[in-house]
Amino acid sequence: AALGSREGDKLKDLAHDTKDTTNKDRLTTDYGVKQGTADDWLKVVSKDKTGPMLLEDPFARERIMRFDHERIPERVVHARGSGAFGKFRVFESAEDLTFAPVLTDTSRETPVFVRFSTVVGSRGSADTVRDVRGFAVKFYTDEGNWDIVGNNIPVFFIQDAIKFPDVIHAVKPEPHNEVPQAQTAHNNFWDFEFNHTESTHMFMWAMSDRAIPRSFRMMQGFGVNTFTLINAKGERHFVKFTWTPELGVHSLVWDEALKLAGQDPDFHRKDLWEAIANGVYPKWKFGIQAIPEADEHKFDFDILDATKVWPEDLVPTRYIGEMELNRNPDEFFTQVEQIAFCTSHIVPGIGFSDDPLLQGRNFSYFDTQISRLGINFQELPINRPICPVMNFNRDGALRHTITRGTVNYWPNRFEVCPPASKEEGAYVEYAQKIAGIKARMRSDKFKDHFSQAQLFWNSMSAVEKRHIINAFAFELDHCEDPVVFGRMVQRLADIDLNLAETVAELVGGEAPKQGRPNHGRRARALSQTEFPGSAPTIA
Ligand code: HEM
Repeated sequence: AALGSREGDKLKDLAHDTKDTTNKDRLTTDYGVKQGTADDWLKVVSKDKTGPMLLEDPFARERIMRFDHERIPERVVHARGSGAFGKFRVFESAEDLTFAPVLTDTSRETPVFVRFSTVVGSRGSADTVRDVRGFAVKFYTDEGNWDIVGNNIPVFFIQDAIKFPDVIHAVKPEPHNEVPQAQTAHNNFWDFEFNHTESTHMFMWAMSDRAIPRSFRMMQGFGVNTFTLINAKGERHFVKFTWTPELGVHSLVWDEALKLAGQDPDFHRKDLWEAIANGVYPKWKFGIQAIPEADEHKFDFDILDATKVWPEDLVPTRYIGEMELNRNPDEFFTQVEQIAFCTSHIVPGIGFSDDPLLQGRNFSYFDTQISRLGINFQELPINRPICPVMNFNRDGALRHTITRGTVNYWPNRFEVCPPASKEEGAYVEYAQKIAGIKARMRSDKFKDHFSQAQLFWNSMSAVEKRHIINAFAFELDHCEDPVVFGRMVQRLADIDLNLAETVAELVGGEAPKQGRPNHGRRARALSQTEFPGSAPTIA
């Protein structure tokens, strides 16, 4: 009953390739021949009913061979995750910012699939480790699929995508012994963090309670990168997207996280599944921060820098929509494991910016999915849009769609599959003015790596600060290399001398010297853990 009619469409679409184990059909091979036994391999048997097995047995071979190939590569990052279906609706039109109906049409219900994940651990790792959480949303809109591939922390470790292999290699288990699984408590990670100062703001968030959430249902989600919205008048705004849970933001404390990782490694997965199975549907408000194109350079940080937040006292978040998750997956592998998100999936009215992290992401997801799932992954029911798809992309391993007709190119004499006009809803790129030289560089504002790390620290309550201190003490205490430990504690003095001194004291290290002065600037929204509660609900 909770499913709207449009979600019903998505279900019908998914049912297309569905087998049902409840209807008691007889066992068959993959090519449809009924099988008389699932117990005995074909053999040459002697009087005592023993004897060699025959490789000839196609039924037995099919079973074994299918089993042998059940595994596909896990995601190179975010391998462990859980997901659910749901719906999204705006309660306030954002037509001043965009003409995309998904954000303007208050009567429209858009089906969604959301996948939450950890970043570092492998597919079988524990849920409650200290880590960033992925928060990826696929909107199945009438104009095509739109993905917001976000995290539960609003900033990132790097400013330019070229660095992604380095940051991930550094945080993953060390190459010689694959230790430690899913933790930041090791030399390589902190070595990288010291040498790569643009990570400073992000590692403060990663050492905070945000990195040990109580539940997926109690996490914020952030698109992190700067996107753009274009309205019907052709005006462009830079935007950031935010999800805020109606249950409020809640975290575990470290002792709970440690114990749960041992006692119940599926803690978050079960929590989400059970809530939805029991009809306690989690909901998030959807918010947008918007900066008019003309104001791009009016801030003391670069608004295209993914290591910076847009403090809400400067750029307020406007909550305009709501998402509810209300249906568990039917089968984990075909839906949660095979869903393919990509930041480059956008729809008319939504655009990219020149954020140098975003541009690299736009390339990376599709590329990795080719090796994870194969070139035809967009044909899988979970990845298919609900609107028609028509083009001359063809062939490739495991092609499924049959495109009838005698031509497969444009232009053609039958006028088959012509490009759409703007009026017909074609995606038209914003005519952005660009002049420049070809070079490898970022604007000077990208070089400030410490102000917002201090802003974050200063915005924390006393309890939150204590938890951050304890997290640093735990993580740095696991680095056996004294150089790594000593330099990192000194780096903390660039954020706050008291933070650095207390961490050094807790782990018996040398007292650090004064680093950068901390001018005590705070930001209102950063320590906010409850939803403001003022936005109307669509439930
Ligand atoms: C996967 C978020 C930066 C490459 C993911 C997933 C999320 C995510 C949520 C999991 C998607 C799922 O559930 O299937 C982010 C955020 C970033 C970021 C918020 C920073 C703003 C990057 C960068 C790159 C990258 C810079 C590469 C240049 C990947 C890859 C995957 C992935 C290769 C695996 C995708 C798959 O196998 O389907 N990311 N990511 N990410 N991300 Fe990112």
